[in-house]
Amino acid sequence: MTDTMRVLVLHGPNLNMLGRRAPEVYGSASLADLENLCRSEGEALGLEVDCRQSNHEGELVEWIQQAGGVYGGLVLNAGAYTHTSIALHDALEAVGLPTIEVHLSNIFKRESFRHHSYISPQAVGVICGLGFDGYRAALLALARRLKGNKGA
Ligand code: DQA
Repeated sequence: MTDTMRVLVLHGPNLNMLGRRAPEVYGSASLADLENLCRSEGEALGLEVDCRQSNHEGELVEWIQQAGGVYGGLVLNAGAYTHTSIALHDALEAVGLPTIEVHLSNIFKRESFRHHSYISPQAVGVICGLGFDGYRAALLALARRLKGNKGA
């Protein structure tokens, strides 16, 4: 497997609480369930998928920085840091990897403070409101892109 077919799925704060946190918003499945789905969907698409979660902004910044040259792309659900973190925006800009921003919930149907994302200007695309299917769609889009298809 070449480096370009490796994808890092990154989760930000409180996403380790999936299944226990507001199941009416985020569903009843756990982060481990979601990460297993990402690895198996990735495998079916010819991707090697690694998954990491952190509640710490600096750790996410470091993982994004280190992903350059190791991974071909990123799937990023930065949780609440989506709406606050210029540092994550800058890390994505610095590393330049194709990134798909994903949110389980439809952030535009929720509080107005969730409507702005510092991640989106650095993302190839944004998916929200589709739950786990959003990750399936993100991995499919990245696989097609990494194989040379730019979107047609
Ligand atoms: C979230 C949406 C964010 O607004 C929130 O802070 C999260 C999860 C989502 O997946 O829907 O932690 O990124």
